[in-house]
Amino acid sequence: MSLAQKSVISNRTASKGVIGSMLQDFRFFDLYYQAETIRWKFDEIAWSRIARDRTTPQLLEHVKSVVNVEFTTFPGAMNFFREFSDDMDFTQWVTVWLYEETRHPHILMRWLSHFDVYFDASEMAERREIYPLGQSRVGTLSMNIISEMRAASWYLDLAAAVDEPVLKDICMKLSADESRHAAGFYTYAKKYIEGSADPDLERQRALEMLYVWLNSETENKHPAGYFFDHTNNQAGLTDTTITYSSPEVVDNRICHMFGQLTGVPLKTKTEIKRFIRHFYQKTSAMI
Ligand SMILES: [Fe+2]
Ligand SMILES: [Fe+2]
Repeated sequence: MSLAQKSVISNRTASKGVIGSMLQDFRFFDLYYQAETIRWKFDEIAWSRIARDRTTPQLLEHVKSVVNVEFTTFPGAMNFFREFSDDMDFTQWVTVWLYEETRHPHILMRWLSHFDVYFDASEMAERREIYPLGQSRVGTLSMNIISEMRAASWYLDLAAAVDEPVLKDICMKLSADESRHAAGFYTYAKKYIEGSADPDLERQRALEMLYVWLNSETENKHPAGYFFDHTNNQAGLTDTTITYSSPEVVDNRICHMFGQLTGVPLKTKTEIKRFIRHFYQKTSAMI
């Protein structure tokens, strides 16, 4: 029996008491067991297969920039712990998310070290700057669904584009992590919507965040870029030899996800406003 199956059974058999209701109510347990079961391990990486002749200086610079972006986990985690300090379920899961995100710059740095590219900790210090708290928990979770889905797509494209086999493998693993993170944030956004006294208002907030992000002029689609000037520059993440999915394709995928989250048939970003109005009218009618 898998750990995930055991977790589901323990949830079903739990009935009374704090622990029982925690096992039933907390999404953390299943997400945790799922992560433990499928998480990749560092020793799975075939470092001896690195093909030194299949990289370019441009690609090394590109990956170096990715490390910089991935090093923004600390302020994100700080904000989750502050904004959701009374939410035991979500903050438990944030520890898993944080742990996994710290592996991303680490594994990429390890790959770069095979090409004598190293980092200085002082260069990373500015990545730890704390940004303002969000106005709505569902809004914050929604923003992170978007960023994780974008990151998953971005790594998948990078994996397809590079010839170096070990980097390709790493990118596939990171893409799978980011997809799973998107699903985790989605799980908690859904929980907040369903548990709200005014679910339609929360659905409206989720779509408002979606609208802001999908219509943002900035090319940097990582939420940290929304707050940080120094990451608000996509130059380091642009390698003209790599073809990334068109923003429209990724946006449509994200819209579909938010359609599921909010229970409306949302397919493209041109429809977001219409559904925001839909929820606004519903909530206004109740006042
Ligand atoms: Fe990451
Ligand atoms: Fe992630």
